[in-house]
Amino acid sequence: MTGKEVRQKYLDFFKESPRNHKEIPSASLVPENDPTTLFVGSGMQPLIPYLLGEAHPLGTKLVNSQKSFRAQDIEEIGDNRHTTFFEMLGNWSLGDPARNASHSDAGGYFKKEQLPWFFEFLTKVLGLNPKRLYVSVFEGNEIVPKDTESIEIWKGIFRNVGIEAKEGERIFSYGVEKNWWSRSGVPDRMPPGEPGGPDSEVFFEFSSLKHDPKFGEKCHPNCDCGRFLEIGNSVFMQYQKQSDGSFQELPQKNVDFGGGLERLVAVSENRSDIFSVDLYQPLIKEIEKMTDKSYKDAVNKPSMRIIVDHIKAATFLIADGIMPSNKEQGYVARRLLRRAAVKMHFLMGGFEPRPDFSAIVESVKAMYQGIYFDNNTGEGKIEEIIDEEMNKFAKSLGKGLKILESIQKADAKVAFDLYQSYGFPLEITKEILQIKGQRIDEEEFRREFEIHKNLSRSTSSGMFRGGLADHSEQVVKLHTATHLLQQALREVLGKHVRQKGSHITAERLRFDFTHPKQLKVEEVEKVVKVVNEQIQKDLKVDMKILPLKDAISNGALYVEGEKYPEKVKVYSVGNFSKEICGGPHVVSTKALGYFKIFKEESLGSGIRRIYATVK
Ligand code: SER
Repeated sequence: MTGKEVRQKYLDFFKESPRNHKEIPSASLVPENDPTTLFVGSGMQPLIPYLLGEAHPLGTKLVNSQKSFRAQDIEEIGDNRHTTFFEMLGNWSLGDPARNASHSDAGGYFKKEQLPWFFEFLTKVLGLNPKRLYVSVFEGNEIVPKDTESIEIWKGIFRNVGIEAKEGERIFSYGVEKNWWSRSGVPDRMPPGEPGGPDSEVFFEFSSLKHDPKFGEKCHPNCDCGRFLEIGNSVFMQYQKQSDGSFQELPQKNVDFGGGLERLVAVSENRSDIFSVDLYQPLIKEIEKMTDKSYKDAVNKPSMRIIVDHIKAATFLIADGIMPSNKEQGYVARRLLRRAAVKMHFLMGGFEPRPDFSAIVESVKAMYQGIYFDNNTGEGKIEEIIDEEMNKFAKSLGKGLKILESIQKADAKVAFDLYQSYGFPLEITKEILQIKGQRIDEEEFRREFEIHKNLSRSTSSGMFRGGLADHSEQVVKLHTATHLLQQALREVLGKHVRQKGSHITAERLRFDFTHPKQLKVEEVEKVVKVVNEQIQKDLKVDMKILPLKDAISNGALYVEGEKYPEKVKVYSVGNFSKEICGGPHVVSTKALGYFKIFKEESLGSGIRRIYATVK
């Protein structure tokens, strides 16, 4: 099956009766109003407010395919199954039926529906052989008992297809490292406010690899040998971490399912290499053409996988508005491109004048035409942006490679200098030195590498500044303040003002909007005054669920280019502001206290940025 088929079949399966899910669009890879991470790395991330109890405009049962990016996996790419960019197929139940009974689309579900449904999708829709499926559940700890309920459900499911599923043979129990899911990982790493819970994973066993003696007796679904591939994860998201470190049951019990599309396509064809499916092959073909080397040749595989993964990921990141830079998301995009360039250099044995990735980028856009790309949101510029970045890097690349060639002993200091002066990410230097067979002082290298990793960790996986992953009170206040700010800007500067971006941390809000010139001091003062007047009026914040068309015709502000579901939540602040928004917000504006703008700057091309806060 093709990627397109598997994606569509999954969406249809969950939309059909008796499952009756509503499809929601994929969110951008850059999280909106979420201070905790740089990227959306799973389908649940944009849904956190709803998992914590906000009502979703489309009800309690949702399904989608979400663009996802996991920077923390960058060094794993090259094997048969890891990628930084992937699509996550997701289905959710937001709470139990009783709690949501008042909603017109009530009827959430939990373990006894979720596990059989996913099994049915795998075996009936994708046609997988049930004998090739293995499952895992949570073994229990001091917070949550062993998930015997899921074990019994799995036994029943397998029994129905004539398989006696025994524990330790087909059903495996693991601890928090494997069978607990939250966005931050195991319970200890979760910041207060974050939801999480035990999960149940499904693995596919590749028949061709089954009897490979190298896997030995000890091989089990969760070992890393490649015989088994994880293809889906049902998280029973029912706990929330408290500020004292304890866990409390959420008022609603959620299901958060996620399965990697690329992996599901691979198993539907019994292929253990996910890069062999149609979501990668056309891209690999481009590299084969450029390098005159074959993917079939095992020595080329890791580099070709890295190049296609990284260029595909960079294409998607740039499409979502990220420019390669030295900061945050931009730095990650830069690392992807530079690493791809170095890999290409070695595959081609050099290049002049610089690596040209346009054919691969075009192929990515063609592959997702009508799904994530539609030819009208500045996508034409992606090749240009990448080309410019490569142009900048080409000189450093040449110089850096010369230095690496000439040095006798690979020392960590040189590696660090290369990083600082020539922009060589450390993983690249390390890889090049390894190719040259140079002995690396592992200890020293690790120390430098640690420093680098700490730097990039804060720019890649999480930024838990102030321990805030939740939608804490201050974040909620700043969110309402952002609505007031947008309306105030429209009143003071004019109706051409539209939101271009928004990002909130515990300390401040950041709001990007269209306006052709710098704000005058008087204008900034006026905006602050208008917002504070509205706060003082203690306006009530009201929410209505409306069909998207009605929301827009009623004058609710929305973000151009953003994909909204067919029904949306419209938040009004008194008669002052009306916006399409997921929430949450304060009940009335007095709670905001005093609003203050502390910085206003240009983002270029007619876009301004304001930093402000409330206290
Ligand atoms: N959030 C879970 C995961 O990413 C399931 O969707 O694995």
